[in-house]
Amino acid sequence: MNAVVDHYAIGDLASKIAAALQAGGKSLDKIETEDLASVDEFHVRGRAATLELGARMGLAPQTHVLDVGSGLGGPARTLASTYGCKVTGVDLSPEFCEAANTLSSWVGLADRTMFVEGDATALDVAHPTFDAAMTLHACMNIAAKDKVYACVRKALKPGGIFAVYDILQGEGGEVLYPVPWARDAAISHLVTTEKMRALLQGAGFEILSEDDSTEASEAWFKRAAAKLSDSGRPPVNLRQFMGEDGARMTQNQVRNLGDRRIRTVTFICRRL
Ligand SMILES: C[S@@+](CC[C@H](N)C(=O)[O-])C[C@H]1O[C@@H](n2cnc3c(N)ncnc32)[C@H](O)[C@@H]1O
Repeated sequence: MNAVVDHYAIGDLASKIAAALQAGGKSLDKIETEDLASVDEFHVRGRAATLELGARMGLAPQTHVLDVGSGLGGPARTLASTYGCKVTGVDLSPEFCEAANTLSSWVGLADRTMFVEGDATALDVAHPTFDAAMTLHACMNIAAKDKVYACVRKALKPGGIFAVYDILQGEGGEVLYPVPWARDAAISHLVTTEKMRALLQGAGFEILSEDDSTEASEAWFKRAAAKLSDSGRPPVNLRQFMGEDGARMTQNQVRNLGDRRIRTVTFICRRL
C-alpha cells in the first residue's frame, strides 16, 4: 500500500463515525454538517478555518470548486452548505473518498459534493473546468508540490481563486513526530513560507494575500490538548480512531507550534 494511504488507514470509517455519533445521542437522519465538524474537518482550527477560506473565494451557487486532498470531505460540505456551491474533492485514500461520499449522503449534500480517488500530482484534467480551487493540509504529504500546483492551474479557469491553507516548516527546528499527517519524517515534506510563495508564483499564480495563523493555531491545539480527558471530548473525533498515537500527535502539535517548528499559513491566489 502507498505509505501515505497506509498512514491514514483506519478501516470501516463511516460505520465507526456512525456508531460514535449514535453513542453521543445523534440520530443519523437528523445530523447537520456542523455535527460532523469535530471529525471531518481534518486541519488545524477546523470548521472556522474552512469558513475563513470560503469567505475569500467568491463562492456562489453556480461555482464549481476543486478540493485537492479532500479527506473526509468536511471542508467541501461546509462550503457547499454555506454557499450552495458544488465541490469535487480528490483524495489519494479510497477509504476517505468512500467515507466522504457516505457522510455527504447523511446530510443531504450528495448532489453538491462528490469525492473521487486520485493523486494530486497527476490529476486527470485536460482543460480548465473549475471556477475555484482549495487545498487544506494536504501538501505536507507531497514532495512534488510543483506538480500539484501545475495540475490545479490546468484545472482552474483563468482568474479563478486558489485558496491554500497549509502547515509549513518554521524556523524553530525539526518537526517532532508523530504528527497528524505523519508518524515519522518519511512522508512529511514541509517547505518554508518563502519556498511556498515561490512554488505558487512559479506555477502561474498571483498571490493576493498571505496570512500566518500560527498563534491562533497554537491556542486551538492547546485547547484540544486540554480536552484530552474523556469528559471534555467531542462526541466523535478522528483522534479516537488513530490509535495510541492520537494523543501524542496532539501534544506534539502544541510543541511544534509553540517552538515555531511549524507554522500555519493561508495563501489566497489568483490563476494567471
Ligand atoms: C490532514 S488530511 C486533510 C484533509 C482535508 N483537506 C481536510 O482539511 O479535512 C490530508 C489529506 O491529504 C490526502 N493526500 C495526501 N497526499 C495526497 C496526494 N498525493 N493526492 C491526493 N490526496 C493526498 C490524504 O489522503 C488526506 O486525506
